[in-house]
Amino acid sequence: MNKSLKDAWSKSFKIGAAISRKVLEIQENADIIRKHFSSITCGNAMKISCIHPKEDFYFWDEADFITSFAKREGLAMRGHTFVWHNQTSDWIFLDGNEEVSKTKLFKRLEDHIYSVTRRYNEFVYAWDVINEAIDVEKGDEYGFRLSKWYKIGGKEIYDFAFKTMREASPNAKLFYNDYNNERDAKLDTNVRYLSSLLDRGIPVDGIGIQGHWYYDYPDEKILRNALERYSALGIEIELTEVDVSVYHWVEANDRKDFFTSRPEDRIVKQEKVFLDIFTTACDYPAVKNITTWGIADKHTWLDHFPVAGRKNWPLLFDEQYNEKPVVEKLIEEGYKRILF
Ligand code: GLA
Repeated sequence: MNKSLKDAWSKSFKIGAAISRKVLEIQENADIIRKHFSSITCGNAMKISCIHPKEDFYFWDEADFITSFAKREGLAMRGHTFVWHNQTSDWIFLDGNEEVSKTKLFKRLEDHIYSVTRRYNEFVYAWDVINEAIDVEKGDEYGFRLSKWYKIGGKEIYDFAFKTMREASPNAKLFYNDYNNERDAKLDTNVRYLSSLLDRGIPVDGIGIQGHWYYDYPDEKILRNALERYSALGIEIELTEVDVSVYHWVEANDRKDFFTSRPEDRIVKQEKVFLDIFTTACDYPAVKNITTWGIADKHTWLDHFPVAGRKNWPLLFDEQYNEKPVVEKLIEEGYKRILF
């Protein structure tokens, strides 16, 4: 079929994929991106541990490779990510063997932001400035995660990150990105946090809903509720890391539940979740991008997490890089909405 996801949904949102250099170097992946996607994200290459592994050394190669592909192919890019409790080099929190001072941590973050944005501003239209700073179970009284950023920098470090980003990257959209923020306490806390940023004039333009979901979750009601609540804040919404696991979270650590081959009954249910995501998001003009965390089932982080070595099939293309049947259905749904 010649029709593509990106064309089918072009009136509503960009269609994105997170990639690594290794994945991009596989011809089939590059071809799928050219045909179906209008946006890419570096899966790891722009994270602090990859791009800034030592205080005086930046490793630009992988992100350069991916950004030049984006430029050549006319793809939009999401930039991911600055302040996060994971995949952040230890040096940033240390001064010799001691914990770094608050002042120095702010300065390091500022320098890092300016260096990365100076190099990539021309490619990136939206940055995940803060990732996963909220932890409703173990966080502080406001719900902030007790990460090293928070313990050393205080919650002021997040305001500082957004303000610095606006100066360093004035044309880009600035996002707060999180997981599970489509429901329950995490949704409430995210809404409260964003309202507080907006009320205080801190520059934030959007919410990233990661969307690491399951073959039986979320349903349309949950999605609609979250999209309503975020839309009401007047900010943009992007689904930044969508994948639809064939395991439910509660099966995560139950090694007895391994599938040794693709569970077709769950792939059928997975289709429904993908269709609900696209068709529901389409009703909300605030949604600007739906990005999947990967391209084809051949390479997915869910083969290693939460159970190492357990194969998963969470993406839109199969292990042989063919379209899963859901792709054609999504294209049809997209075109229906363009025509009417
Ligand atoms: C999180 C992060 C991403 C990525 C995924 C899983 O959600 O935001 O950068 O690490 O987990 O790969």
